[in-house]
Amino acid sequence: MSTFTIDTSTSRATPSPVPGKRTTVPAIRARKADGRTAEPLVMLTAYTMRMAQLLDPHCDMLLVGDSLGQVIYGLPSTIPVTMEMMCAHGAAVVRGSWHALVAVDMPFGSYEASPSQAFVSAARIMKETGCAAVKLEGGEAMASTIDLLTHRGIPVIGHVGLTPQAVNVLGGYGARGREEREAEKIIADAKAVADAGAFCIVVEGVIEDISTEVAQTVAPPIIGIGASAECDGQVLVIDDMLGMFERTPRFVKRYDDLASRIGDAARTYAEEVRSRSFPTAEQTYRMKGA
Ligand code: KIV
Repeated sequence: MSTFTIDTSTSRATPSPVPGKRTTVPAIRARKADGRTAEPLVMLTAYTMRMAQLLDPHCDMLLVGDSLGQVIYGLPSTIPVTMEMMCAHGAAVVRGSWHALVAVDMPFGSYEASPSQAFVSAARIMKETGCAAVKLEGGEAMASTIDLLTHRGIPVIGHVGLTPQAVNVLGGYGARGREEREAEKIIADAKAVADAGAFCIVVEGVIEDISTEVAQTVAPPIIGIGASAECDGQVLVIDDMLGMFERTPRFVKRYDDLASRIGDAARTYAEEVRSRSFPTAEQTYRMKGA
């Protein structure tokens, strides 16, 4: 049985079945000392309270990614994702976790117009969810925004390389950095985001050599997805790694095949309902003493 107590070691009243200190931004940043991360950082996406509870003991960070647009809401891309979606799911993940640092994605349209627009949106996300950090996409163009946020109490995770919110500009979700100019731009973007104050940076869909170079030359921890094993940590979309979808990008490793296991369970249930073999005596109520 877990006893829920108020975790007074953080500035927020976080219900915690294990009284303890939640992983902090400085603790994550400090994992890359002298340009190296001895033990890679573990990050997964989470969108719901129960999934957060299950993942939390194993992760350094939980990311409430705007991938929830496709994964939870069946949207065609992350572009239609709203602040309301991010805040509702962010709050659920914070409620379901006690150890991992929780970061919430800033949705498309909530931060790109100006640093002050970004501040208003990020402050709302932090107030409504209790998360410790936000993530936003973009390199050099976002440097002044990241600088303003970090100097006003909002820790930022950067995101460079394949940036899905820019799918209409990029023309698709293919790997980045195959051409020299693009590779140089990715390295410059990562450096700009780091110099602006991001405490860690997601590098997505970038060829191995370039993501390795980024990890070796940029100061904050680099979290790879479709990048390189030499990154300072890795992140995957939880539903992808659990095998919830028939088709996943090449960089995903499926650690389970939940889609077929859920299908099997639903089929067995349907057969038992139709044959009246569920519910049995075990699942039904009777008069006292009967
Ligand atoms: O939205 C998301 O899930 C992400 C990860 C893929 C890094 O940004």
